[in-house]
Amino acid sequence: MPVSDFNVLDPATLEDPYPFYKALHAEAPVYPAPGMPITIVSTYALIQEVVHDPHTYSSKMPTGPADLPGGRTTPTDPELRAIYEEQSRPVDTLLSADPPWHARYRSIVNKAFAARRVNGMEGYVREIVSGLLDDIAPQGKANLVEEFGNRLPMAVIADQIGVGRAELTDFKRRSDLAIGGIDTKVPEDKVLETARAGIELQRYFVARAEDRRKEPKDDMLSVLANAKLETEGEPRPLNDPEILSMLQQFQVAGKETTAHSIGMATYLLLTNPDQMARVVADRSLIPNMVEEALRMETPVRGLFRTTTKDTVLGGVALAKGTTLMLLFAAANRDEEQFIDAARFDVTRENAKSQLAFSAGPHYCVGSALARLELRVAFEELLERLPNLRLDPAYPAPKHTQSYILRGLNDLHVLFDPA
Ligand code: HEM
Repeated sequence: MPVSDFNVLDPATLEDPYPFYKALHAEAPVYPAPGMPITIVSTYALIQEVVHDPHTYSSKMPTGPADLPGGRTTPTDPELRAIYEEQSRPVDTLLSADPPWHARYRSIVNKAFAARRVNGMEGYVREIVSGLLDDIAPQGKANLVEEFGNRLPMAVIADQIGVGRAELTDFKRRSDLAIGGIDTKVPEDKVLETARAGIELQRYFVARAEDRRKEPKDDMLSVLANAKLETEGEPRPLNDPEILSMLQQFQVAGKETTAHSIGMATYLLLTNPDQMARVVADRSLIPNMVEEALRMETPVRGLFRTTTKDTVLGGVALAKGTTLMLLFAAANRDEEQFIDAARFDVTRENAKSQLAFSAGPHYCVGSALARLELRVAFEELLERLPNLRLDPAYPAPKHTQSYILRGLNDLHVLFDPA
């Protein structure tokens, strides 16, 4: 099918985007999407070129233009208006910051997410995983997305931020409501409830940050509350909107992405029994299986950049202000980089060069944590849920309809009960 027959937002394309990616690679690696304010970049080499040049390609609008679906409606309800006024105005940190500010914010969080600190967390991640599997193992059946995939990253990220175990249920409720999907439009009848949850979450974080200024702990709230931000003049503490912006990113970026990876990697194993058998026989393949699963089914399908000046990319002239959608998921299926790219091969030698975590200065700061969670999750899952298989009582699982995040809505499995 020619590339012009596809629409990036079409439900069928979102469910199975791979024929579209193939057409993009063949016909138009830099593709101005007809009727849409975006130009799609799909090859491995060109996405690398863009993400390594933050001066030409700005990250100020990382989740895309407001006129794509998902924009916020103007409130008429007085309570809603009051909440929006109280709500801290979003500021550009980390994901949406450009040089020189990006590096300043990034240096504050780098140490907390560095591989050395994260590797020290293995015991406690395993404890969380085991606790979840203790509940699942005796049942003989489960919806792995709901009962495992979604819960693990939520518990880990809440702990990293510094939300106490006792507060977790309340935090989860507010966080789920307040965040939703990053590009999913909140239904009309949920707007007020969502806004209330959002403002409660902000008040909660501002209060906890104040606690940590008085009494620091080993968590992100303490790191952020006591950090000194480099500026052109004197270093200064982070203000509340900056702290809230960074915490919001840890929740969205840290939770849904990892949850989606667990579901999709499990599904890949279950639908490729030869590969499952190899991993079950040799657990040392798990880290490479995780890389290969992130390549095959990339949880962040794509993010956006905006050109800061007239430029040329892959021979295509781009005017200043052009919005680019970088399809990491398509780059990960680029045959120039990955031979036989549609094949799930847990021993693929260059699986680790996948672009699921992007590259360049915005390279995912949580990648070491995500890799740890995924490795431990599969080490325990394969051990504790023997003879894991799809539950034939359910139809094939469907993927999320977000154009940014890809994951499974459900994954019903059977296994031999403990
Ligand atoms: C499998 C799981 C994950 C995937 C696929 C993923 C993917 C990504 C991608 C693609 C970016 C790049 C953005 C860009 O180039 O604009 C990113 C950035 C980021 N990720 Fe992750 N992520 C994952 C897990 C996590 C976790 C566990 C955290 C923990 C807090 C996290 C926090 C962040 C943050 C804060 C950024 C912004 C970094 C910056 O702009 O400097 N991510 N992630």
